[in-house]
Amino acid sequence: MSEKATLNVNGGSYDLPLLKSSEGELCIEISKLRGQSNGITTIDRGFKNTASCESKITYLDGEKGILRYRGYSIEELASKASFLEVSYLLIFGELPDKDELEKFHNDIVEQSIVADDIKKIIDAFPGAAHPMGVLSSLTSALTAFNPDDISLDYARSKEEMYNTIVKLMGKIPVLISWTFRKKNGFPLEYSSKTRNLDYVENILQMMFKRPNEDYVQNTVLVDVLNKLLILHADHEQNCSTSTVRIVGSAQTGLFASISAGISALWGPLHGGANQAVLEMFNAIKEDGGDTQKYINKAKDKEDPFRLMGFGHRVYKNYDPRAKIIKEAAHNVLETLGIDDPVLEIAKALEEKALKDKYFVDRKLYPNVDFYSGVIYRAMGIPSDMYTVMFALGRLPGWIAQWREMRLMNEPIGRPRQLYTGSTLRKFKSISKR
Ligand code: CMC
Repeated sequence: MSEKATLNVNGGSYDLPLLKSSEGELCIEISKLRGQSNGITTIDRGFKNTASCESKITYLDGEKGILRYRGYSIEELASKASFLEVSYLLIFGELPDKDELEKFHNDIVEQSIVADDIKKIIDAFPGAAHPMGVLSSLTSALTAFNPDDISLDYARSKEEMYNTIVKLMGKIPVLISWTFRKKNGFPLEYSSKTRNLDYVENILQMMFKRPNEDYVQNTVLVDVLNKLLILHADHEQNCSTSTVRIVGSAQTGLFASISAGISALWGPLHGGANQAVLEMFNAIKEDGGDTQKYINKAKDKEDPFRLMGFGHRVYKNYDPRAKIIKEAAHNVLETLGIDDPVLEIAKALEEKALKDKYFVDRKLYPNVDFYSGVIYRAMGIPSDMYTVMFALGRLPGWIAQWREMRLMNEPIGRPRQLYTGSTLRKFKSISKR
């Protein structure tokens, strides 16, 4: 097979290298086209069919509904692994052995102290502040409290890079729990014996422990949160991950790059969809539960309403994560004895949409955000915290992608554009200068 692609433009013929992914997909490399062709660029709005990098972290086949982290299937990881194991796998490339996992956990616990002054920042936020805005600001504020981590030459020192990574893995859960506790009017405190708790247990304890009461772990909640975090842990070059990589490509430090990723995740077309989904279910419930009415609204091109939690840029098949979350939502509600009408609305919407020509023709299926809010709600987490929980899960993925980008010494991200503005024109002054 030829290892090049030939592009014919305006009588010119250009040979472009043809690359192959480890799963056999072909990829035309166009980075030298402009120089070769004296100015031809390519455009792909929204990067619908353009790879921004090479990566060894996550494999996704949207047509077949396949998702793998470092070669391991999402189904296997979600049913058998711990979130911390998966985090290690994503970041460092291989599953940890017992000692490596223990060291990783201990290093994270060691670094989970957050400066007390951060509490003053939290206190200064208005009560109605959205938790995603708070989390993004606090993550950015970490740079001020950890100045040594800003401009290290990480590519040269893997040890320094490791230290920065465990700091972030330790501190973000504290920031998230404080954001949640502030909303609930609880004092901002750490859990008591973090070293004895697993990463997920510790997060739950930090969030839910009430003053002067012991926190008793509920294994159902620990298991389901562990699963949700694994399912959210990475998803190759999505909007927030691409943001983290492009911000980091300017050699911006890890904390600031992740803060940018959190902001990107917030949008309702991305991670913010989980909040929007639950609000949509509630609106349908309050409106009498007529799911067909909302299916019709979603199909109506004059109506800006979209069926939130449905559709995906790359999945043209059932999102494998949604399949697992749907089953988990059922199990959790059943085990906890919760009869939530919202689940019935979700199922009715899904059933109708999957039979409807509009959704079938466009290959629109439930995505990761469709059922996750049902679980968070059962856990007692308010809807404006759902995307924060997504961010917690995505953290190791962002870190892994940032680390990979820095270790591969990738060039600064700097797209071209197709300029469609004015050509040169004369300036006519209206001022006296
Ligand atoms: N409801 C109604 N119509 C939809 C929906 C939806 N949820 N999603 C896509 N469509 C239609 C869209 O109107 C378009 O129709 P047409 O071809 O007639 O113009 C067609 O399907 C293709 O959609 P698109 O907007 O061009 O596709 P995209 O790849 O640019 O957008 C998406 C992907 C996820 C932004 C979009 O499906 C959407 O807005 N979904 C709802 C928001 C949501 O659930 N987001 C979470 C995504 S999963 C979590 C994550 O990884 O971020």
